[in-house]
Amino acid sequence: MLSSTLLLFAILHLPIALGASEFDWQKHKASTKLTWAPCYDGFECTRLQVPLDYTAPKNGTASIAVVRFRSTSPKSEYRGPLLFNPGGPGGSGVDAVVGAGPAFAAVFGPEFDIVGFDPRGVSYSTPAISFFKTDVERELLIPTVPNIVYPSLNASSNTLSQEWARWQLVGQLAVARDEGGYLQHMTTDNIARDMLQITEAFGYAKLQYWGISYGSVLGATFASLFPDKIGRLIIDGVEDMDGYYSGNTTFEMRDTDKAMQTFFDGCAAAGPADCAFHAPSASQISENLAALTSAIRDQPVPVITADSHGIVDFVVLRNAILNALFSPYDSFGVLAAGLAALAGGDAAPIYALNSVPTFECQYNASVLPFHSNNLESYLTIAGGDAAAVNESIPQLQQFYENATKVSNFADLLASTRVLYSGWKIHRAGRFQGPVGAKNTSFPLLIVGNTVDPATPLAGAVKAVQAFPRSALLTLNAVGHTSLTAPSLCLYGYFRQYFINGTLPQPGTVCSVDATLFAPSSGNATERRDLETERLLEAGRTIGAVVRRGASRRV
Ligand SMILES: *[C@@H]1O[C@H](CO)[C@@H](O)[C@H](O)[C@H]1NC(C)=O
Ligand SMILES: *[C@@H]1O[C@H](CO)[C@@H](O)[C@H](O)[C@H]1NC(C)=O
Ligand SMILES: *[C@@H]1O[C@H](CO)[C@@H](O)[C@H](O)[C@H]1NC(C)=O
Ligand SMILES: *[C@@H]1O[C@H](CO)[C@@H](O)[C@H](O)[C@H]1NC(C)=O
Ligand SMILES: *[C@@H]1O[C@H](CO)[C@@H](O)[C@H](O)[C@H]1NC(C)=O
Ligand SMILES: *[C@@H]1O[C@H](CO)[C@@H](O)[C@H](O)[C@H]1NC(C)=O
Ligand SMILES: *[C@@H]1O[C@H](CO)[C@@H](O)[C@H](O)[C@H]1NC(C)=O
Ligand SMILES: *[C@@H]1O[C@H](CO)[C@@H](O)[C@H](O)[C@H]1NC(C)=O
Ligand SMILES: *[C@@H]1O[C@H](CO)[C@@H](O)[C@H](O)[C@H]1NC(C)=O
Repeated sequence: MLSSTLLLFAILHLPIALGASEFDWQKHKASTKLTWAPCYDGFECTRLQVPLDYTAPKNGTASIAVVRFRSTSPKSEYRGPLLFNPGGPGGSGVDAVVGAGPAFAAVFGPEFDIVGFDPRGVSYSTPAISFFKTDVERELLIPTVPNIVYPSLNASSNTLSQEWARWQLVGQLAVARDEGGYLQHMTTDNIARDMLQITEAFGYAKLQYWGISYGSVLGATFASLFPDKIGRLIIDGVEDMDGYYSGNTTFEMRDTDKAMQTFFDGCAAAGPADCAFHAPSASQISENLAALTSAIRDQPVPVITADSHGIVDFVVLRNAILNALFSPYDSFGVLAAGLAALAGGDAAPIYALNSVPTFECQYNASVLPFHSNNLESYLTIAGGDAAAVNESIPQLQQFYENATKVSNFADLLASTRVLYSGWKIHRAGRFQGPVGAKNTSFPLLIVGNTVDPATPLAGAVKAVQAFPRSALLTLNAVGHTSLTAPSLCLYGYFRQYFINGTLPQPGTVCSVDATLFAPSSGNATERRDLETERLLEAGRTIGAVVRRGASRRV
């Protein structure tokens, strides 16, 4: 869930260093105990050794990169580790906590060690998921980092077949280069087992966890495998678990068009001062956007900036729009300005939303670990979790056409199914659902937004049914996961849940402390106390850091 919208946002708002390489992870010896070393100025890092294959614990190991921002409470108030997963799959929990550790502590309280970990194979964890011998080889085949741009299956008549061929090739490379057969073990059930190992290495029997987006799959899978090991568990931005484990992405699109509609409605209501793409009615704005998209499809626009160059075409524009739906409180105003500029012939602002610095070929660049092996991790974990798709081009075309009935963004979002169709590594005996448990040792707290473009509220509702004692907390908000905007109400419930074990009453709805198309003039009369400001800023920081660090896939 990353774009340079967020990068831009991050640079403007965050006095925080980018996920640093200041700690030499490979030099730190992995151990079955937590052997902390200072890292990243104010954090502690370690590598936890776990079995690669839990059914054959003597047959190889994996090392999990773990970072903590330590509790500042007196020992008597210490509450142990609180693990976070930022989604993806393939998002780095280390980067998230290094980027926003103090902000997490502000939201959840000083009683916890805020713990980020890179799921097995991801980022600093080893063996690293990688199918390529060099950065260059990788860049030529899947040039995606840091921004994932979906192909549009409607871009041209051969896009789907070309994408199909590309992902067959990537899938075959993965098989050919899968030394010792390690990739089959990079699955969510094993990541859940690793979370239990981390928890136990801290000396605790039960997990305390917050997982967003794909992190909801990880949390719910953990709760299904280890229902008696739940201390506290929040899943937030909840996927449809059956959809996830069957590789069917259609479910994700259910509310995407609703999120788009909030742009049209909000822009119409905001007026031209706060929405540069304004027109008198929502339907007029919608028509103007369709006309602009069609014009760009007919005639893409080249852009040259100081450090890169590229083309704003149909696919770039569609992705910029979809991207904005994930974090509309931060992005709608920027998107509207970009669309207005584009309509006036200036493509630079839209290009800037997704620009990637020109790839520099570093001849000797070290290949391992790929710190940002985000897309390979995504493919290996999500593709490896899912039932084999193995569909032909006509079947995938049919899948896409079916999905167009669910969302106008199916051309982008159904392309994930094409990725899966090339993935051939599926370990027999892995967990594939169904997700759920009659009774967990502590009830789950399940959070869903009213309009989430990637994880519709229905996913949270379904999860509540799968975990009978759990509680649903609805966030009245547009965007992906509760990171879309800060909510004092939500943080109050988070803290009550973690500290006192209190669940919200059925039917509880929180609102966010943010507005779509926020007035550019601001509201100087609004004063909040310092503590409140600190909490809101913490929420914004977590949102910006996590969105910057994870792939945009859910
Ligand atoms: C695909 O693009 C065409 C224009 O070339 C458009 O008419 C059609 O609605 C698009 N289909 C989808 C499903 O987006
Ligand atoms: C151990 O791993 C090797 C490959 O590294 C594999 O051939 C063998 O079957 C594995 N043994 C068990 C018991 O899983
Ligand atoms: C995918 O899920 C949708 C419902 O969300 C369903 O209509 C469709 O038939 C499913 N497709 C496949 C291939 O399972
Ligand atoms: C790259 O590696 C080669 C062989 O090890 C070495 O001779 C050369 O100096 C290296 N180049 C750079 C720029 O580090
Ligand atoms: C996948 O499909 C191809 C072509 O239809 C077939 O040859 C192959 O056996 C299938 N593989 C699996 C694992 O089903
Ligand atoms: C497409 O939808 C039809 C009608 O609902 C269904 O029978 C078919 O299985 C779907 N195909 C795919 C590939 O999703
Ligand atoms: C559910 O689990 C809790 C804690 O493990 C236990 O106290 C309770 O009796 C269980 N309830 C049911 C209905 O099994
Ligand atoms: C926890 O409960 C205690 C006692 O009822 C109360 O004083 C405290 O404010 C609660 N803390 C939170 C974070 O809800
Ligand atoms: C500014 O904030 C105050 C206090 O929250 C509120 O009463 C007022 O309506 C706001 N004004 C505008 C223009 O949003």
